[in-house]
Amino acid sequence: MEVKTINTFIQPNQSATFTQDYNRVALEIIGRNPLKGEVRISGAKNSALAILAGTLLCSQECRLTNVPTLKDVQFMGQVLSALGVKIEQNQDVWDIDPRQLKDAQAPYELVSQLRASFFVIGPILTRLGVAHVPLPGGCAIGSRPVDLHVRGLQAMGADVLIEHGVVNASVKGNKKRLQGANIFLDYPSVGATETIMMAATLAEGETIIQNAAQEPEIVDLANFCNSMGAKIKGAGTNTITIEGVKSLHSTDYAIIPDRIEAGTFLVAGAITHSPITLTAVNHEHLIPVIAKLEEIGVKVARESETSLKVLPGELRGTDIETSPHPGFPTDMQAQFMALLTVSEGNSLITETVFENRLRHVAELKRMGADIKVKGNCAMVRGIYRLSGAPVMATDLRASAALVIAALAADGTTIVQGLQHLDRGYENIEQKLRSLGAKINRIQYQS
Ligand code: EPZ
Repeated sequence: MEVKTINTFIQPNQSATFTQDYNRVALEIIGRNPLKGEVRISGAKNSALAILAGTLLCSQECRLTNVPTLKDVQFMGQVLSALGVKIEQNQDVWDIDPRQLKDAQAPYELVSQLRASFFVIGPILTRLGVAHVPLPGGCAIGSRPVDLHVRGLQAMGADVLIEHGVVNASVKGNKKRLQGANIFLDYPSVGATETIMMAATLAEGETIIQNAAQEPEIVDLANFCNSMGAKIKGAGTNTITIEGVKSLHSTDYAIIPDRIEAGTFLVAGAITHSPITLTAVNHEHLIPVIAKLEEIGVKVARESETSLKVLPGELRGTDIETSPHPGFPTDMQAQFMALLTVSEGNSLITETVFENRLRHVAELKRMGADIKVKGNCAMVRGIYRLSGAPVMATDLRASAALVIAALAADGTTIVQGLQHLDRGYENIEQKLRSLGAKINRIQYQS
């Protein structure tokens, strides 16, 4: 079977198509090459997805900048277009015209491919008084129900009927608008906080969300809505207050840097003992990640307001337990597991946020890692060195962990399952190659 290197760098002005045949492409990584230089961090995927849904709240045009070019973000664009929104994309700038939002029915064929598209239910319902959004269904890392989203909307006076896999929501009785309410979340869900916060911006009266999620992406969404004239206070704390307004006006808003992409590159620097510098990054958002790196023996220096430098060190094991922000992010668990496989001593990793997010263990073991799993815990015993092997990515962050492990492994690793990686990392192989990594996207020719 013939193998050829392909270049998937997304040129400026080129809208990404991601149409490659993922069964025939893989990353070929030759390990043990030191990295050096600078890497620019892209806009945050999980902010862009929520904020794109948030543009549906506005009855004027919006401009978003620092929008990452990712498979998931392209999908959200298609969901908005299917709802009647006009979008012009130029590099990382999106001009969005939601004035023609007419269809309250989000298309199943798109929602089924992108869980986050369920976030449109709040904005559509509060703007049009009715919304029909397919249930997103589970994914590789867990069952991921949306009961907290639905309960929040019901508390604000929505009638919700789930039928044939679709959540049908409408404003009750002869009320035109959703009503402010006091909502206590059983779990500080990121998505449910975002859905309720967006729905409340155009509701009548005041809404208070208690035990709200505090992630930086929640703050970014609130800042975006406030830049359109919304009245949201307390985002980033466990209590958010929203005073409903009649309508929102246009805005020009820049998405925050991606703290998970940044964390992934910090770990890539640590595992290869490379003093790389990250630019266009927000230090505040990375405090739990940097604290863990320092426990492992890797210092991270603030070079400027928006740049961080890895100061490599001897790697030693530590324990990690994922939890909602400001706890240790579940989206960094897999990448840190890769690092701890070659850190001196034992490390206990406990995944508390998602019930099925240890699937990368089997693939890391193919590279020689010594890991024992019991329930949602993984005991990692550090070894001297990983060895290259063919591995399969099972979900987005698992794919990043395998790329990181391959950078430090002896010999060549072939990483398949890139449909996961492209969902959340913009031009990752070009960025790594610019730092000196030996990494290529290869295509199998039949
Ligand atoms: C967001 O997912 C992120 N996705 C996830 O990132 C991230 O892992 C997660 O927050 C936690 O930080 C986006 O922002 C698009 P949750 P979300 O609602 O909103 C349970 C990545 O790698 N739950 O906070 O879906 C749920 O099952 C992705 O970029 C309910 O039980 O996360 C889970 O166990 C993966 N009922 C827990 O809460 C609900 O109604 C956390 O989910 C909602 C959630």
